[in-house]
Amino acid sequence: MSLKILIAASEVVGFAKTGGLADVAGSLPRALAARGHQVAVVMPYYRCVRLGRIPIERTHHVIPVPVGLRTLACRLYRATLPDSQVPIYFIDQPEYFDRDDPAAGKGLYQQNMPGGYKADYPDNAERFVFFSRAVLETAHSMSFIPDVIHANDWQTGLVPVYLNEVFRTRPQYENTRSIFTIHNIAYQGMFGPDVMNLTTLPGWLFNHAQLEFHGRFNFLKAGLVFSDVVNTVSPTYSREIQTPEYGCGLEGLLRVNRMKLFGIMNGVDYDAWNPATDKHIAANYDDATVFDVKPKLKAALQARYKLPLEPDKPLLGVVARLVSQKGIDLILSAAPGFLDMGCQMVFLGEGDPEYHNELIQFRDKHPKQVGIFLGYDESLAHQVEAGADLFLMPSRYEPSGLNQLYSMKYGTPPVVRSTGGLADSVVGATQETLAAGTATGFSFGEYTANALYQTIKWAVTLYRDRPKDFQQVVRTAMKQDWSWYRSAGDYERLYLRVLGR
Ligand code: ADP
Ligand code: GLC
Repeated sequence: MSLKILIAASEVVGFAKTGGLADVAGSLPRALAARGHQVAVVMPYYRCVRLGRIPIERTHHVIPVPVGLRTLACRLYRATLPDSQVPIYFIDQPEYFDRDDPAAGKGLYQQNMPGGYKADYPDNAERFVFFSRAVLETAHSMSFIPDVIHANDWQTGLVPVYLNEVFRTRPQYENTRSIFTIHNIAYQGMFGPDVMNLTTLPGWLFNHAQLEFHGRFNFLKAGLVFSDVVNTVSPTYSREIQTPEYGCGLEGLLRVNRMKLFGIMNGVDYDAWNPATDKHIAANYDDATVFDVKPKLKAALQARYKLPLEPDKPLLGVVARLVSQKGIDLILSAAPGFLDMGCQMVFLGEGDPEYHNELIQFRDKHPKQVGIFLGYDESLAHQVEAGADLFLMPSRYEPSGLNQLYSMKYGTPPVVRSTGGLADSVVGATQETLAAGTATGFSFGEYTANALYQTIKWAVTLYRDRPKDFQQVVRTAMKQDWSWYRSAGDYERLYLRVLGR
């Protein structure tokens, strides 16, 4: 049965991206369309969309969107997702979205402040109140009345609220259902209570069972409470967030709502992330040729990071937003140990200025072993995945994680902490899993530098002294199939369930 599905997200790969949400919002719609559904995507018309490589078409649709006491006009722009017929609509409102400029330190949600600190834009609440409301107005204006509206993360948390409180009274929307996906519960979009005025929603919704969280306005909670089903991006994370350690204060609410909470692991877009066809790397390979080709790519990566071209030194790669989630502190604490073992390491990332400074000091102290690139670079991300021998992802928490899925495909076994989607996707090498031929990486449980160090040591032992075992891990990792086809099937079942079909 073909469904009409509207997907709203604050970033979509190819147009605007800060992390994995963009990858999901770009791939899931195409995978759903490939299964026969009618899908449309909505995102803001940021400056980077306007100036980007993909041609955008201006439509004649101009829709009025109320925010507080004002009604703003919003023009719709349109494109299709790359290699697909899936339409993507862009919501234009220059006051809110035409401001990002990496050269001036202005991102999608944050800007650099004097002293190197990043601060959220002061009007983020207003920007995403506007966006959430505009999502529904867009669908209406395009006469795309969805069976399911799928919202993602706090920026779209009010979409299910507007559906229930404003649009439900219109007969066309009587049967429309909503799903809300939590990609990261640590970012909840919390603001002062005055945001209520911006929403134009009835004031009585600001109560502790609905939009209020300890006196503040909470977008993510709004999405959770008002949507018909909620999911997170891996089964393990859906359980973890029901505990105080991972729930960021919302664990109680999630436990109460556990009957409508699901976990669906993210997939990979193997058109974009496949070493056999990747245009960002100097030579292509698959599981039959990986050991012939990888040395060239490793040398190229060492050269790019100005490291000595040492073919036999284990090269550890990291690609991550540099935030506490990603375990950068563990890597830095464990580093003396693994540098002593003769490892080299390369970082690609940007984020908190403290990590930038620490990484610069780390590199300056070990210029022959450590390379860093502080910034965002799509091609380099592919080159690190391909050229490194091991990929480090010792996350404190990880809702799903995509990089470990990419690194497996690239024959670069991930070294992960067993949490969230990392636990659900990586089979750590042990004597047993090696004997069974199921190991796809290396994993540890405790969030300590020593646990990470011991695990890297074990991986390096295999790399150096047990090459057959190491090669088996590489090949098994490369053979894993994390394509979207399966995850899109899980979403389809969830949509049908919420529609009662
Ligand atoms: P998260 O969404 O928490 O950042 P994921 O592993 O799900 O983590 O996805 C991260 C995505 O962002 C991957 O596609 C990764 O390659 C990309 N990425 C992160 N940092 C950078 C960077 N500095 N340059 C290029 N790509 C990056
Ligand atoms: C978040 C999570 C990451 C996940 C991504 C896409 O950014 O941190 O684990 O893969 O969303 O769902």
